[in-house]
Amino acid sequence: MTTTSGVLAEELRKTYSGTTALDGFSLAVEAGTVHGLLGPNGAGKTTAVRILTTLLRFDSGRAEVAGADVTKDPATVRERIALTGQSAAVDGLLSGRQNLVLFGRLLHLPARDARRCADELLERFGLAEAADRSAQTYSGGMMRRLDLAASLIRRPAVLFLDEPTTGLDPRSRNQMWQAVRDLVADGTTVLLTTQ
Ligand SMILES: Nc1ncnc2c1ncn2[C@@H]1O[C@H](COP(=O)(O)OP(=O)(O)OP(=O)(O)O)[C@@H](O)[C@H]1O
Ligand SMILES: [Mg+2]
Repeated sequence: MTTTSGVLAEELRKTYSGTTALDGFSLAVEAGTVHGLLGPNGAGKTTAVRILTTLLRFDSGRAEVAGADVTKDPATVRERIALTGQSAAVDGLLSGRQNLVLFGRLLHLPARDARRCADELLERFGLAEAADRSAQTYSGGMMRRLDLAASLIRRPAVLFLDEPTTGLDPRSRNQMWQAVRDLVADGTTVLLTTQ
């Protein structure tokens, strides 16, 4: 392994000043599939996600994501992935539309493309009607969908979702799983965590 869109982790170890969060964690996710990391609070799920998304250093082991080594070539990994973390990355004071346009601009899209992309995502995630309201007025489910939309501005080869359904009611949960299924059907590899 790995292909340009798979995930491979071998014997990852991570200790935070005394606390061992990962003690020989290995994983292989085939390109174009969805894989769930299941575990109770404190099991090390977020630690694994942060390592695989180049946000956190580890003590030993090896990881390759989307065809690049996480330690040796983090820039390539970052170009090919997206992450929706456990807490929302969107700005509550901005509207849903403004948030998505901002993310697009941060990814260097021309203003027009950023606006078009924002509109498409708002439509796709059922947020078109709420598009011009500030995000802090959104329900938990709407916020989660906006957060997911923000990570899809640029189509990732591998998408990481840290607890995408936590705090969602059954309907919003189903919408989230449907969005994940659509992405996988489209060829995206998805690695998600859940309790
Ligand atoms: N920055 C940190 N400093 C010290 N210890 C940490 C840090 N981050 C995580 N830990 C510890 O590492 C272990 C794994 O934490 P992690 O956040 O990876 O778990 P998790 O599976 O994501 O949990 P949750 O389900 O609550 O999100 C826990 O014991 C936690 O207390
Ligand atoms: Mg966590």
